[in-house]
Amino acid sequence: MKKIVVSGGRKLYGNVKISGAKNAAVAILPASILSEEKVVIENIPDISDISLMCKILEQLGAEIKVLGKHELEIDAKNVSNCEADFEDVKHMRASCYLLGALLGKFGNSCIAMPGGCNFELRPIDQHIKGFSILGSSCEISGGFVTAKAKKLVGGNVYFDIVSVGATINLILAAVKASGVTTIENAAKEPHVVDVANFLNSMGADIRGAGTDLIKIKGVKHLKGTSYSIIPDQIEAGTYLAAVTATGGNITIENIIPKHLEPIAAKLEEIGAKIKFSDDSVSIVSNGNLNKCNVKTMPYPGFPTDMQPQITAILTQAIGTSVISESVWDHRFKYVSELVRMGAKILVDGRVAIIEGKTELTGANVKAADLRAGAALIISGLISKGTTVIGNINFIERGYEGIVEKLSNLGADIKLAKFENLNNVTYAAG
Ligand code: EPU
Repeated sequence: MKKIVVSGGRKLYGNVKISGAKNAAVAILPASILSEEKVVIENIPDISDISLMCKILEQLGAEIKVLGKHELEIDAKNVSNCEADFEDVKHMRASCYLLGALLGKFGNSCIAMPGGCNFELRPIDQHIKGFSILGSSCEISGGFVTAKAKKLVGGNVYFDIVSVGATINLILAAVKASGVTTIENAAKEPHVVDVANFLNSMGADIRGAGTDLIKIKGVKHLKGTSYSIIPDQIEAGTYLAAVTATGGNITIENIIPKHLEPIAAKLEEIGAKIKFSDDSVSIVSNGNLNKCNVKTMPYPGFPTDMQPQITAILTQAIGTSVISESVWDHRFKYVSELVRMGAKILVDGRVAIIEGKTELTGANVKAADLRAGAALIISGLISKGTTVIGNINFIERGYEGIVEKLSNLGADIKLAKFENLNNVTYAAG
């Protein structure tokens, strides 16, 4: 059993390079099967969610060639299966993009219902609403979700809520439908724009991505392309958060400044000094932090995927901070682990009240999900003593080489193997 072991108290210095965006990549890979020709994708993050998505695409018949650590060629000409009922599908939320991609390609798709994640049930009613408006009949039964259409015809979809997944899935289904589809109240996240840019590079006609009104004019064919995925906004935000908490001075390379503005604005309010260049950002923090209130919102608001990390920082700010989570119902499960480390945090529904500054002390903790894991690493970096983090498979789903990257910045962090004998866990070196 692998765990991450962090000894706190070191400031961070140096440079770190950001990988490709997980949430763009997990949509762009399924989107690639819409092309009739080979597609080359660059800047793919080396994370376990991507390995899993590649495995699922191969099970569907796609041929995937690894051209480099971050570069793949996907040939979907032999994909003839519109059913993805493999065990892996259930374990990955992003596999719901197969529903839109297979529906867009074959007019027919059936996938094992993607499970919820550790912080939410994650409904797909808006995805289904969109597919239905395009003329598809949809059914959830026996653990499967099926979408079928004699012919997909463009229509006007007004989403009830802003959903990244529903926006991308509808784009995938509409890109080859006949006529024009409009999506109102669309999600504006950078990864939505990246998926649209990727499809446009294959010959799709998608306009308005990045605004709340997207127009998709269906095309008959999608050709091959070579495309580079945008850098990961949340990975970059996590390193900004780490150095804000520990103190130090780092430069984060391979970023898009605009995508980081909502995060940088809050970290500056807390006390960090941040300077953007063309494709990098430098941050200096002296560790003297101010309280602040944060409300998570869809882009360009403060991202929910940075909420656990900012909570960890605010345990070190003087005064009382309030975090309101407006995207997910249950995204404070990790708080009990921070409390075990000494944090003073009260949670009431979608609100957390953090009293700072508290001294954190290292403990044995478990990641409840990906971003919860990032918050525990940050907490470990500022704790007295040693923190041992379990369930790191969640962290490996979305952060490429986080142990190595933080270690290069001067953190005392390592991956260690543990053996569980008679319910007692021993370090195995
Ligand atoms: N929702 C519905 N009905 C739907 C779809 C969504 O009610 O049909 C609700 C959800 O329950 C939630 C809200 O709408 O309350 C927003 O959900 P959204 O669909 O935007 O989330 P998602 O597409 O499932 C993506 C990211 C998440 C990120 C959210 C919000 C991927 C693979 N995942 O999820 O990322 O939190 O958008 O920005 O893109 C992460 O990276 O750690 C992560 C969880």
